[in-house]
Amino acid sequence: MIDKLNFAQRNLPIKSISASNQRLPRRLVTGRLAMTIQNMTSKELRQKYLDFFKAKSHAIIASASLIPENDPTTIFTGSGMQPMVPYLLGEKHPAGVRIADSQKCFRAGDIEEIGDNRHTTFFEMLGNWSLGDYFKKEQLAWMFEFLTKKLSLDSKNLYFTVFRGNEELGISRDDEAVEILKAEFKKAGLEAKAVDFSERDGLNGGRIFYYDESKNWWSRSGVPANMPIGEPGGPDSEIFWDFGAELKVHENSLFKNQPCHLNCACGRFLEIGNNVFMQYLKTEKGFERLPKGNIDFGGGLERLTAATDNKSDIFQTDLFKHIINRIEQLSGKKYGESEEITKAMRIIADHLKAATFIMADDKGITPSNTDRGYVLRRLIRRAIRYGRQIGINAAGGLWTKEIAKVVAHDYQTVYPELQKNINKVIEKFRAEEEKFGKTLEQGLKEFEKITDGQVAKKISGKEAFDLYQSYGFPLEITEELAKEKNCTVDGEACRAEMKKHQELSRTASAGAFKGGLADTSEQTKKLHTAAHLLLAALRKVLGAEVAQKGSNITAERLRFDFSYPEKMTDEQKKAVENLVNQAIKDASPIVCESMDLLKAKKIGAHGTFDSKYEEKVKVYTMGRSSAGSESPFSREICGGPHAGNTGELGHFKIKKEESSSAGVRRIKAILE
Ligand code: ALA
Repeated sequence: MIDKLNFAQRNLPIKSISASNQRLPRRLVTGRLAMTIQNMTSKELRQKYLDFFKAKSHAIIASASLIPENDPTTIFTGSGMQPMVPYLLGEKHPAGVRIADSQKCFRAGDIEEIGDNRHTTFFEMLGNWSLGDYFKKEQLAWMFEFLTKKLSLDSKNLYFTVFRGNEELGISRDDEAVEILKAEFKKAGLEAKAVDFSERDGLNGGRIFYYDESKNWWSRSGVPANMPIGEPGGPDSEIFWDFGAELKVHENSLFKNQPCHLNCACGRFLEIGNNVFMQYLKTEKGFERLPKGNIDFGGGLERLTAATDNKSDIFQTDLFKHIINRIEQLSGKKYGESEEITKAMRIIADHLKAATFIMADDKGITPSNTDRGYVLRRLIRRAIRYGRQIGINAAGGLWTKEIAKVVAHDYQTVYPELQKNINKVIEKFRAEEEKFGKTLEQGLKEFEKITDGQVAKKISGKEAFDLYQSYGFPLEITEELAKEKNCTVDGEACRAEMKKHQELSRTASAGAFKGGLADTSEQTKKLHTAAHLLLAALRKVLGAEVAQKGSNITAERLRFDFSYPEKMTDEQKKAVENLVNQAIKDASPIVCESMDLLKAKKIGAHGTFDSKYEEKVKVYTMGRSSAGSESPFSREICGGPHAGNTGELGHFKIKKEESSSAGVRRIKAILE
């Protein structure tokens, strides 16, 4: 879900939104029910969703971290299904075959989309899964029930899309979904017509639309052609909410004379959820049916809230209200005052909320020049620049932390880690803002000098790199500034310069979902097991305060980040290698047990697992205890999968030990 819009379209809906806010909410005048709809908070909505699926025998699990474990496909968790991949591929989930949650998500690829009424980099995805249990019929009927009965959304304003099929892939048109949906609409007193989507014909009296795989196919890596071997995916059925033709958005010049359709960016329709029928696996031979069909549903909490509020602008829902209010106070400007101010406030609100969540995660990230740290730096610096544009920080004070306080307060009961880690977060904001603040003015002056009076100037890679190196301007900020002046940047040359200096090539902005997969090949499992042994060995050699800060595992190598203030000595590295290799030589079986989180903690299992729910977790125990100790070599809460016996691993070797970010070291290791 979460569609992409082009730049011109992104800037459009603001006018239509303020127009829509002035009119009386449609349903206020149509009945009593409407009053409750208007009053539902996002918190109630989230709870209603979880309660609904709990009543349908789903185990409610806590959100996984924003920093994915053992998943080389993406540097942040970008959808609810991501932590579920091993289970969608057949691994047994400790909580059963029906799972639901609200997952924190961040999509780095969407940073430049922000500014319209519907996109955010951080969002919560309400998700429910069937792991080979119920399928299409239950899912669509339940979703219809949830939306119309629990959220009281009027079925007249609901629209659906389905997959039109693809002969080459051997996948037929999803008439089954159409029949189920038609029956649901019929129960609600509506005759639902299914039609092929065509831009020229627009809605054409349809309520259900057939689309091709560019729209109605879901996998982490997108369309079937982009999926790597071993990746699961399937056709999907998206749900759209209609804010009403009375928005008259098509009077707006860009959309004038264009017929309305669901995926048009004019602002009338909003995608609020996606039912994925996850039933295929890409193999060497083509698409194979998974042994059992899975359901993967994801619904954006922000968008569902907008639909129940009947506000087409998610930044005016309670999920952003306090943040926007604070930005108004800080800037002395009003949201909606002008397109420029509205856009800037949306960017600031989105970016600083996302940055707060990323830094408050228990595996918290610090702004830096590589990987996740760089994405975080971009978010904060971009927000600061837009803040400056609307007059924040006129007095030179630090302000980004003020937004963090509002975010932590707003989400305190749902994501307690925000309050718990608020001091750390404030300190990180302060340090980053101070750093950027020192050079921002000068950098902007330098930028003016570079472009001074030159029409359509192409800023060289060297110039852009200097702005980065000397003034801390992420390349993307220079590109944005250039665009505002009708100039361009030789981004490629700049990136080459950066690569030379900083190995900056892996910055996620080109789409976090491209690339490999969290495969479950034998070698990956072994390296995953080795990562557990490595953590245990590090704690024995360097001290029990060492904590895992992240990992990334492919079939070739493991990369492991951990907290430690200094470079490891050669002796320490050797000692760690020896301990791991000893545990391998012991050839002890790896034991996996399912238990309550409380029990797991009691028996000393490690793991950053924030949970407010009564939850079952898997605990992996491996390696013998050393003489005089009761504890096993390693015991961790983990989703798996792992090797069966440490003896299968081979010889463990550390290839590199280096700094990852402040206070965090990184080890790259292999099994020979
Ligand atoms: N995984 C699906 C999505 O993100 C539900 O749209």
